[in-house]
Amino acid sequence: MVASWGLCGFNMSLRQRLSKVLQSLPERSFWQVAPDLPDFTTNDYLGLIRDGVIAELLQQVPSKYLRGSGASRYLGGDSEAFHEVEAQIELLWGRAGEKALFFPSGLTANLSFWSSVVGRDDVVIFDREIHASIRQALRLSGARAWGFPHNDWEAAERKLRQSPRPAFLVIESLYSMRGTVPDVAAIQALASRYEFYLVVDEAHTTLAWHGGRSWSLDVGLNPLARLFTFGKAGGLIGAAWVAPSWLIEYLRRVGFAGIYTTALPPFVAWVVGELLRRNSGWESRREKLWHIISVARSVLGSAGILYEGLDGPIALLYEESLSLPMKKLYPPTVHRPAYRLSLHAHNSEEELELLLRKR
Ligand SMILES: Cc1ncc(COP(=O)(O)O)c(C=O)c1O
Repeated sequence: MVASWGLCGFNMSLRQRLSKVLQSLPERSFWQVAPDLPDFTTNDYLGLIRDGVIAELLQQVPSKYLRGSGASRYLGGDSEAFHEVEAQIELLWGRAGEKALFFPSGLTANLSFWSSVVGRDDVVIFDREIHASIRQALRLSGARAWGFPHNDWEAAERKLRQSPRPAFLVIESLYSMRGTVPDVAAIQALASRYEFYLVVDEAHTTLAWHGGRSWSLDVGLNPLARLFTFGKAGGLIGAAWVAPSWLIEYLRRVGFAGIYTTALPPFVAWVVGELLRRNSGWESRREKLWHIISVARSVLGSAGILYEGLDGPIALLYEESLSLPMKKLYPPTVHRPAYRLSLHAHNSEEELELLLRKR
């Protein structure tokens, strides 16, 4: 008897086709960081998870928020906790006339924004290192999406020149799979010559950037919209767009990935709000983080280890003589095989030197 999970004949050909795809791909496995070993992998940059801060905040959640949301925010799943966290985000990162809209994750926030704000007639110019959630959302949008090589601003300019109407230019504040920041002066120079809508995904600097400030505003950019996420330095989950109120209203009404999904449990929004209310309290962690970043630059430099990034807490290491206790990443996640090193406020210089000792 043939085991059947549906249509038997098709089933076999599907299986064969999918295993063929798998054979051409590098292994992709789950990975846990043991709590008793140094963490050089996660995005918990400030150590809020590792040091129990998130666990402590979860203990303090008001009982009315200790529940699931039960539905999308539009169908009974809304809660004061979401409105409060949005107000907190506006207070911390919003400019005059801007509002915030909370999403279950950065992925859903990007899907909502790009698939609803731009369409077939729009041109979106993006750095090719931009996060997969944006690239996938652009496919959904049908917009003309023109990539340029990472941080190649001459190539970006050529694309801006070719655009028949003001394009959208999308960048990250810190590229998650490269560890680099964009060239702010180059973007400002382009802004003085071309009309475009700048959109910045600030996922990897949210709460990790100096003072917990918005990276874009701190470096003097003037974006149309900024995305903040809370699953990285924030140690939990959730994301928010901050943009002019008319754009937020549009997103609220049209952004499908926020509409057709269950809202996060309200306690998540409460904890994120609390993290933001206590923003200044994380400054000593940020100072430690930026200190260990500069130590890593000099350790890697003096050991002659080939690396990229470290404009923030992320680096790609290309050194083959290291057998690092971390995941090796392969294209398309990274542009060439590399170990992704991520640094944290709690990483010590000794740990770092031990990790990077050539064997
Ligand atoms: C730049 C960037 N944007 C968005 C996301 C998605 O955020 P989330 O993990 O909250 O879905 C990620 C996640 O890795 C990211 O690196």
